[in-house]
Amino acid sequence: MTIDTSALIAPHGGRLVDLVVPPEKREAALRHAEALPRLALTARQLADLECLATGVYSPLDGFMGELDYRRVLDEMRLADGTLWPIPVVFDVDEANLTGIGDAAEIALSWEGRVIATLRITERYEVDKPLEASAVYGVDDAEHPGVAAVRELGDVYLAGPVRLIEPELHGSFDSYRYTPAQSRAEFARRGWRKVAAFQTRNPIHRAHEYLQKVALETVDGLFVHPLVGQTKSDDIPDDLRIRTYEVILERYYPQDRIVLGVFPAAMRYAGPREALKHAIARQNYGCSHFIVGRDHAGVGNYYGTYDAQRIFETLGPEDLRIIPLPFENAAYCTRCAQMATRKTCPHPEDDWLQLSGSKVRAMLREGVRPPVEFTRPEVADLLMQGVRRVG
Ligand code: ADX
Repeated sequence: MTIDTSALIAPHGGRLVDLVVPPEKREAALRHAEALPRLALTARQLADLECLATGVYSPLDGFMGELDYRRVLDEMRLADGTLWPIPVVFDVDEANLTGIGDAAEIALSWEGRVIATLRITERYEVDKPLEASAVYGVDDAEHPGVAAVRELGDVYLAGPVRLIEPELHGSFDSYRYTPAQSRAEFARRGWRKVAAFQTRNPIHRAHEYLQKVALETVDGLFVHPLVGQTKSDDIPDDLRIRTYEVILERYYPQDRIVLGVFPAAMRYAGPREALKHAIARQNYGCSHFIVGRDHAGVGNYYGTYDAQRIFETLGPEDLRIIPLPFENAAYCTRCAQMATRKTCPHPEDDWLQLSGSKVRAMLREGVRPPVEFTRPEVADLLMQGVRRVG
């Protein structure tokens, strides 16, 4: 029985893209692909390929050509005018270029196995300084997103992709909803208004506060931690997901939440990435998107609320998903509850606030983060996790 998902928000650009080869055609597609010149994917390329193929990046149906690339950098739009904040591109270096010669189609492999094909419609030079300053706001190698751009090959290949082998991971499998699957799940539960929560961190009390305040006004919450590549000092994804499993099970009503994982790699692009995160969640079927303080930020590169303000610059037709902006939230010792400037009159001296780096330092020193910051179950997991990674 197919589930009617028509009450949910439309995908970005109107149509959910599906570039996964159907099971009955996989064998022939694989035979065809194995005869093609082959490139091994990087983890970042794999994440983009998966997002393209399963419709997370709808309406994109392949890696971007130069017209799209330039307009995305200059105006945050595809060549046809659709809002799109961050290039989705396939880089190659000199050695790769020599390897594929003038092939019009190539096979893409992961861990030695051919999993996809790319039909090359264009090859063009990367403009790294422009890409860095347009997407990240700075051309500074200390910024992890910029550093990643600088490491890319100097040429981008563009063209449509086909994913032949969708079983890519072997981890978090029960949480890997594609947009079609999350839409079916929301519809099965009778949800129409769904708030999405992006995170790259273990859950703490401010996250929980944002999620639960949002949940007061919608039908359901899609908790959607990112599990693609993150910078090396972020908490590893398995530990991140474990904290969610424990907290969601103990402190959330099961009929109002779905836990999924977001396969994209983190770019740390602040405002532009917040838009990208929102577009992706619209494709997953969510009507609302939580944007707190310094969303997708790193260091001091972005203003605390820049990622919220960028939504205010959009036209009414640009994006359907509705941002849910939240001020900096922390535990107020005088209110004895979570609070923000909007809800609490006390000075910040009364607030218990801890930065990510402060928490990491506490964990390294064997100091337990306080319950006002994170629930004891999460503190236990984090302390064990730090011992594990040493
Ligand atoms: S992010 O890179 O995925 O944005 P993080 O996991 O830290 O990082 O944050 C997830 C979401 O919660 C983001 O929308 C972020 O803005 C928000 N957030 C995190 N901590 C707070 C806080 N103390 N107050 C308000 N919003 C917060």
